[in-house]
Amino acid sequence: MPTFVVTTLRTAEDLRAALDVRTRVFVDEQHVPMEEEVDAYDREALTRDDVVYVLGRLDGEPIATARLLLDAHEGLPHIGRVAVLAEHRGQGYGRVVMQALHEAARDRGHSGVTLAAQLQALPFYERLGYVARGPVFLDAGIEHRDMDLRFD
Ligand code: COA
Repeated sequence: MPTFVVTTLRTAEDLRAALDVRTRVFVDEQHVPMEEEVDAYDREALTRDDVVYVLGRLDGEPIATARLLLDAHEGLPHIGRVAVLAEHRGQGYGRVVMQALHEAARDRGHSGVTLAAQLQALPFYERLGYVARGPVFLDAGIEHRDMDLRFD
């Protein structure tokens, strides 16, 4: 039985592993330019206290990541850069990574979270209870919609 463990980033090696997953998913697979993909939250991930970063390891191998920006938007904290390596999708790992960030937001007293979902990933977020709002917009040439999750 494979073991999937999600932890927050602690070391430079964790950060490199998370960015490697992101590069494979967003840059190599989805063709997002590297200069758009990596930002100050990534470069300063280990020292900032306004971002929670998680890395999912399957039997020790980094395969999934996502981050929660606590102050990025008015109102709810913002989840982004949700990625599971292609060969490990459909096994529930994306859901576990999201749940770890939901717990982090809840622990800090937030009443929900928000995100910008790629249209192809919208059903994944709906399964987790997110509700879409507003029109479709383009980010990095990819169609998105804003979605919110309110905690019970
Ligand atoms: N369309 C429809 N349903 C989907 C889906 C999709 N694209 N992706 C996942 N689901 C469903 C699963 O079938 C599962 O349903 P269940 O509740 O009936 O079991 C549920 O959502 C949870 O799926 P899970 O296996 O945890 O998802 P995953 O590990 O494959 O991760 C992504 C989902 C979106 C993170 C992953 O596909 C990915 O990394 N995609 C490329 C990057 C990306 O698009 N990121 C999101 C940007 S907004």
